[in-house]
Amino acid sequence: MKLTGKFISFEGIDGAGKSTHIAYVAERLQSKLQSHGVKVICSREPGGTPLGEALRELLLKQSMHLETEALLMFAVRREHLAQLIEPALARGDWVISDRFTDASFAYQGGGRNLSLDKLNALEQWVHPDLQPDLTLLFDVPLEVARARLDATRELDKFEQEKADFFAATRNEYLRRAKEFPKRFRIIDSTQSIEAIRLQLDALIDELVTKAEFAQ
Ligand SMILES: Nc1ncnc2c1ncn2[C@@H]1O[C@H](COP(=O)(O)OP(=O)(O)O)[C@@H](O)[C@H]1O
Ligand SMILES: [Mg+2]
Repeated sequence: MKLTGKFISFEGIDGAGKSTHIAYVAERLQSKLQSHGVKVICSREPGGTPLGEALRELLLKQSMHLETEALLMFAVRREHLAQLIEPALARGDWVISDRFTDASFAYQGGGRNLSLDKLNALEQWVHPDLQPDLTLLFDVPLEVARARLDATRELDKFEQEKADFFAATRNEYLRRAKEFPKRFRIIDSTQSIEAIRLQLDALIDELVTKAEFAQ
């Protein structure tokens, strides 16, 4: 399958600001891509399909063996790719996903200490040839993320984890950003929402200018 659309992932620890910015980016992109006949689709992980959303409920609420958790995350991802991401990219549409495989490395690898070899093997199985074209890493110190989360809603299984879990998760995200500098952009998420939007506007312009579209 030839994939001509673009795939953007949003990453960062809980409370970093992914959900705050995803609709904004999708709307801006959609208004710029409309004239090219390109659709922008927003999705999320774990989730993105009816099966994935059902599994999300379990993944975010139920405690389970670490490897079960990692396997389920990748099972959800396989379905997400097959049902939504790959068909959309094949049509030339753009997909923005709130989390993708970097989150498995950060949470199950960094946070829970699952071996990166196992995660690499799962990645090779589930999407050997596909990576996001761009990954936005919303980066904040743990205390800032925690204060924002506490002010909002009931916390899920991951959000209730302790500071050292999030420190390890954040470190793994930052390590991956260093490992794949071409794909990652780090957004300093301690800035105001307005300041971040200005930065995102510039990024969106750059992306659209560089993109090639079918005639
Ligand atoms: N730059 C920011 N400054 C202040 N508050 C923010 C900022 N970004 C997000 N928030 C707030 O922090 C909380 C968590 O943000 P959210 O986007 O849900 O994080 P995530 O999706 O990454 O877990 C929300 O209440 C949101 O309004
Ligand atoms: Mg969110």
